[in-house]
Amino acid sequence: MAITLLFGTETGNAEECAEELNDAIAELGIPCRVADMEDYAFEQLLTEQMIVIITSTYGNGDPPANAEDLLEHLQEQRPALPGTPFAVCGLGDRTYARFCQCGKDFDALLEELGGQRQIDRVDCDADYEMFFKEFRENLLAHLRTNKARYDGPMGTAPAKREHAAHFSAKRPFMGTLTAKRRLNDGSSTGQTWHYEVDLSGSNMDWAPGDSFGVMPTNDPAEVAAILSAARLTGQETVTHKDESFTLEHALTHRLCLQRISADLLRRFAALQGPAMEAVSSGTEAQYVASHHVLDGLREHPLLGIDAQSLAKVLRSLAPRLYSVASAKEHSKDVAFCVATTRFTLGERAVKGVATCWLEERVNVGDKVPLYRVENRNFRVPAPDVPAIMIGPGTGIAPFRGFLQQRQGSQAQSWLFFGHRNEAVDYLYKEELEAWVSNGTLSKLSLAWSRDQGAKVYVQDRIREQGAELWKWLAQGAQVFLCGDAKGMAPGVHAALVQVVQEHGGQSDGQAYWAQAEENGRYHKDVY
Ligand SMILES: Cc1cc2nc3c(=O)[nH]c(=O)nc-3n(C[C@H](O)[C@H](O)[C@H](O)COP(=O)(O)OP(=O)(O)OC[C@H]3O[C@@H](n4cnc5c(N)ncnc54)[C@H](O)[C@@H]3O)c2cc1C
Ligand SMILES: NC(=O)c1ccc[n+]([C@@H]2O[C@H](COP(=O)([O-])OP(=O)(O)OC[C@H]3O[C@@H](n4cnc5c(N)ncnc54)[C@H](OP(=O)(O)O)[C@@H]3O)[C@@H](O)[C@H]2O)c1
Ligand SMILES: Cc1cc2nc3c(=O)[nH]c(=O)nc-3n(C[C@H](O)[C@H](O)[C@H](O)COP(=O)(O)O)c2cc1C
Repeated sequence: MAITLLFGTETGNAEECAEELNDAIAELGIPCRVADMEDYAFEQLLTEQMIVIITSTYGNGDPPANAEDLLEHLQEQRPALPGTPFAVCGLGDRTYARFCQCGKDFDALLEELGGQRQIDRVDCDADYEMFFKEFRENLLAHLRTNKARYDGPMGTAPAKREHAAHFSAKRPFMGTLTAKRRLNDGSSTGQTWHYEVDLSGSNMDWAPGDSFGVMPTNDPAEVAAILSAARLTGQETVTHKDESFTLEHALTHRLCLQRISADLLRRFAALQGPAMEAVSSGTEAQYVASHHVLDGLREHPLLGIDAQSLAKVLRSLAPRLYSVASAKEHSKDVAFCVATTRFTLGERAVKGVATCWLEERVNVGDKVPLYRVENRNFRVPAPDVPAIMIGPGTGIAPFRGFLQQRQGSQAQSWLFFGHRNEAVDYLYKEELEAWVSNGTLSKLSLAWSRDQGAKVYVQDRIREQGAELWKWLAQGAQVFLCGDAKGMAPGVHAALVQVVQEHGGQSDGQAYWAQAEENGRYHKDVY
C-alpha cells in the first residue's frame, strides 16, 4: 500500500512537481510512489490507498498525450472508486480559454466515481512553482494530520501497463531524416530550416494542426563542461527511471542541462553564494531564468557530489514540439519548419537544445526520435468554409499543410504571413506564389517588419484589410493563428478585436472572439 502520484505531462513540469512531492511525502515517512500515467496499470486504481493526480493541459483543454488513455479509461470504463482518497493539481496557463481543463476533468471524474477529495484542487498558472507550492503544503498538512491512515508497508512495486501501440516521449519512433534545407539563406537574424522525416513502419497517423514531440540530444560540449565542473568522469553508472546508464549517456540523452530543478537550487543554496541570496530575497525565479545547470555549477561547485546524486537532482530531458508543416495526402514524409534558437545567458552563448542539435548534428539519413501530439482543435476546415490563416515566422508551418490539403479545391483561403526581410526571410516563397497563381490561395497578405523604418507586422495588415476580413467572417470564415505566443498572438488578437468592432458593429470584440473560440471558429496554436 502506498500513496500513488500520477503525472500527466508533455514537457516535464508536472513530472518534476510529482518527483518533488514524492520526496517530501517520503520525508514524512509515508510510503509513496510516482508513476507516469502512461505506464500505470489501470486496474490498480481499485486498490489504491490514495491517488494524487498532477497533470498539465494541452491543445485546447486536452490532456497531454501520456494522460489520454487514463482519462479515457475513467470516462468510458467508469471504475467504481468508493471512498478512495484523492487530490488533484492542474498545471496550465490562464491565457488559454480552458484553463487547467485536464486537471478539472480528472478532479470531477474521480469524485463522480466515488472517490473522496481530501484537499481542494489547485490550478497552477504559467509560473506553476508558486501555485504548486500551495498544493504541496496543503497536501503535506493533510498527510501529517492523518498520518495513521496512510502508514503501512510500501507493498510490492506496481505492475506496469501493457503498452498501447502508440509512440510517446518515453517510447518515440525512430524516424529517418530525409530532407534538410535552409529556408532563409543570407538572413542575419538566425537560421530557419525545413526538415522532413520518414515515418515508414510506424503506422502513425497525423495531420496539419498536430505537432510532433522530438526527443533531442544534448550538446556533447555542454555535457563535457558539466562533467568537468562537477569533477566527474562520465563513466560512473547511474540509474534514471529504472534504467542504468553511464553518467555521460544520461547527461547526453536523458537529463535536462538547462532548467535548474527545485532540488538542485536547494543544493546550490546550501553552499551560500548567489543561489542562497536568491532564495532569501525571494528571487528564485529570476535566478533560474538567468542560470542553466552549468552556470549554477560554476557558481556553486558541488564538490564531492556523486554521479547518482547529480543525476537525481536534474530534471528529465523534455521533448520539443514542432508543428506539422505538410499534409499526409501530399507527402509521405512529415515536414517541420524550425527556427534555430541561440541566445546568451550573462556572458555565455547558449544553444537551443533541439534546434541546434537538428541544425548542427542531424543529417539526412540520421534517426530522429519523435511521436505525434494530436490537436483535433486545429484542423483544416471543409472546402466550403473559408479559412483565414495568420502565421508569421515559423507560424506558417501548419498552413503549408492546410494549403497542400486544399490544393485543387474551390476553398477560399487567406494567409497572413510576415517576417523580417522579404529578400531573405520569405519562407516557402515559391510555393506560396504558386498557390496564389493557381488559386489555392485566394489572398496573401505579407508584412515585412524590417524592410522599412517603422515595423510592420501581420496585425497591421489585418487592420488595413479590416472591412474585407469582416466580409469573410460574415460568410462563416474560420480563423487560425499560429506562432509566437508572447508578442505576436496578443498583438493579432487585439487587431481582430478592433476589426469586428469597427467593421462588424460588434459592441464587445473580446466577447465576439471568446464566443468564436468556444464555437470552433477561432483556433490558436501558439508557443
Ligand atoms: C505546440 C508547439 C508547436 C511548436 N512548433 C514549432 C515550430 O513549428 N517551429 C519552431 O521553430 N518551433 C516550434 N515550437 C517551439 C519548439 O518546441 C521549441 O521550444 C523551440 O524550437 C526551442 O527549442 P530548443 O530546444 O532549440 O531551445 P531550448 O534549449 O529549449 O531553449 C529555448 C528556451 O530557452 C529560453 N530562452 C530562449 N531565449 C532566451 C533568452 N534570450 N534568454 C534567456 N532564455 C531564453 C526559453 O526558456 C526557451 O523556452 C513549438 C512549440 C509548441 C509548444
Ligand atoms: N530568422 C529567424 O526567423 C529566427 C532565427 C533564429 C531564432 N529565431 C527565434 O525563434 C523563435 C521563433 O521564430 P520565428 O522564426 O517564428 O520568427 P519570429 O521571431 O516569431 O518573427 C517572425 C516575425 O514576427 C515579427 N514579430 C515580432 N514581434 C511581433 C509582434 N509583437 N507581433 C507581430 N509580429 C511580431 C518579427 O518581427 P521583428 O523581429 O522584426 O520584430 C518577424 O517579422 C523566436 O523566439 C525567434 O527569436 C528566429
Ligand atoms: C501548445 C500548448 C497548448 C496549451 N494548452 C493549454 C490549455 O488549453 N489550457 C491550459 O490551462 N494550459 C495550456 N497550456 C499550458 C501548459 O499546460 C503549461 O505550460 C504546463 O506548465 C505544461 O506542463 P508540462 O510540462 O507538465 O506539460 C498549453 C501549452 C502549450 C505549449
